[in-house]
Amino acid sequence: MPHGNQYKIDSKPKTPVKTIRRLISYMAHERSLLILIFVLIIIGIAANLAGSYMVRPIINKYILPGDFHGLVRMLFLLAVVYLIGVAAIYIEYIMLNKIGQNTVARIRADLFKKMEHLPLKYFDTHANGDLMSRYTNDIDRISDALTDSLSEMMSSILTVIGIIALMIFISPILTFITLITVPLMFFSARGIVKRSRKHFKAQQFALGALNGFVEEIISGQKVTKVFGNERKVEADFDVMNKKLKVPAEKAQLFSGLMMPLMMNLSTLNYVLITIVGALLSIYRGFDVGGLAAFLQYSRQFGRPINELASLYNNLQAAVAGAERVFQVIDESPEKADSPGAVTLSEVKGDIIMHNVVFGYRPEKIILKGITFHAYAGHKIALVGVTGAGKTTIMNMFPRFFDIQSGEITIDNQPIDRISRTSLRRSMAIVLQDSHFFTGTVLENIRYGRLDATDEDVMAAAKFTAAHSFIKHLPQGYDTLLENDGANLSQGQRQLLNIARAAVADPPILLLDEATSNIDPRSEILIQKGLDQLMQGRTSLIIAHRLSTIRNADVIMVLEQGEIVESGTHEQLLAKRGKYYSLNEAQFN
Ligand SMILES: Nc1ncnc2c1ncn2[C@@H]1O[C@H](COP(=O)(O)OP(=O)(O)OP(=O)(O)O)[C@@H](O)[C@H]1O
Ligand SMILES: [Mg+2]
Repeated sequence: MPHGNQYKIDSKPKTPVKTIRRLISYMAHERSLLILIFVLIIIGIAANLAGSYMVRPIINKYILPGDFHGLVRMLFLLAVVYLIGVAAIYIEYIMLNKIGQNTVARIRADLFKKMEHLPLKYFDTHANGDLMSRYTNDIDRISDALTDSLSEMMSSILTVIGIIALMIFISPILTFITLITVPLMFFSARGIVKRSRKHFKAQQFALGALNGFVEEIISGQKVTKVFGNERKVEADFDVMNKKLKVPAEKAQLFSGLMMPLMMNLSTLNYVLITIVGALLSIYRGFDVGGLAAFLQYSRQFGRPINELASLYNNLQAAVAGAERVFQVIDESPEKADSPGAVTLSEVKGDIIMHNVVFGYRPEKIILKGITFHAYAGHKIALVGVTGAGKTTIMNMFPRFFDIQSGEITIDNQPIDRISRTSLRRSMAIVLQDSHFFTGTVLENIRYGRLDATDEDVMAAAKFTAAHSFIKHLPQGYDTLLENDGANLSQGQRQLLNIARAAVADPPILLLDEATSNIDPRSEILIQKGLDQLMQGRTSLIIAHRLSTIRNADVIMVLEQGEIVESGTHEQLLAKRGKYYSLNEAQFN
């Protein structure tokens, strides 16, 4: 059972500047749209500011002198200006949304593609749910930031600049007063943001860990139930839930503090301006229209500054999310094919392992110098107790993992000089633990070779004895497999697995315990199918039940990562060694 503390919090944030730059580079694909958006933002802001400024001539030239017709004309003009502004912002919003979604789609695609090319080791060492959380939460945050926060940020900055310019134009003295309160606003906002940033990050990590945990519990539900571990799971959950609650609460608290604080500062500023403005107007002849326009601006001024500070929060969360996403994108993929890697054609299937040393972790060697020669078309069997390293040997051929030293060749070509695609296409693997995708039985068998016709699929199924059970399924070949084929028995899964390998029709077959879950009668059937399937192919089979490999050309006995005996069934029996005792143990 998983423990809360097994999810480490990553404490190595890269520089935010670098992450932001990278986000921008993702958007740069749509440069022309971005320029258009920028222009629209400027139009929107200009219209808004101009509208506010028009209050000045409206009061000074039309209201105070009592020019009613002029006033109506000006009001009409004012409406037009505002409408233009609204239209510009509206269009801008639509476009930005489009860019934001496109950008997020690109990032998501990069993340997914990288995931497809990560070495298996990555999945051994990272919780699935943590990866899922990067897909969902982190991408969501980026999406929010790119569609809303970024444009708001741009328009806030431009608005502030525009307002300051117009304020100075109307009254430098009042502007000076306003600008005194700005640093106050700015620094208090920044103080808050700094505090909340830390908690936001912690919140993201805790969320990832919690998702990982929940995911594991869902898929491992049966195990939890069987051993009655619900209490413990709930306790573990409570711990992790609490770990999320604390930073989430604090992050919200600090970002929530922002608004009221800013409002108060803004009101303070408003009051100051009104008093000084009134005095100026009484004693210095400052125009009333100017004061009205200025008050409008000073009220508008607080808003973008507020926004900037809270937008900063969103952007912060987005950058933290982006960092986590980029971390995965930056993971080193499976080692690239070596330059000049060859593509295998007409594979004969002559396989040699020479002195192969391998450990999943460098410090724990599993295979200790494995050497053997599988001639093309031969049937090689691997036997040995559990944990001896049989599956590990299989893992080496498709290069799921790379060997530490030694050499593996296929048709005298070292496998690390064969392109991965062509290497993997030359072999079919029936894994010890199979996986099925949501889809029909037909589609799942076709997974072995995507261009196989329905007839090919059915032929392969008949060939491998899967047909007889498939035709008894509710919808035959069209029966939907869901949730990793949970509606199949273990034996049926195995049969589908074998059919999948048969449809791939490769020169090399790797079978890991292909018949382990099958009843004796079906086993005979499958054995026939497999024997036929193995005709003319190099096959490597792992079997616990020795009856299934009697006719192998070579049987190798593996013990703690070493081949301790090899030969035919008769030779090994005559030797009265390890194989003999394994055999005795099974049949007597
Ligand atoms: N992904 C992995 N990461 C680290 N160690 C692993 C991994 N897979 C297997 N091992 C270790 O490698 C050793 C050999 O495992 P392997 O799966 O090859 O055994 P096996 O002979 O196939 O056993 P079985 O008959 O039970 O299938 C075991 O000690 C196991 O703990
Ligand atoms: Mg195994």
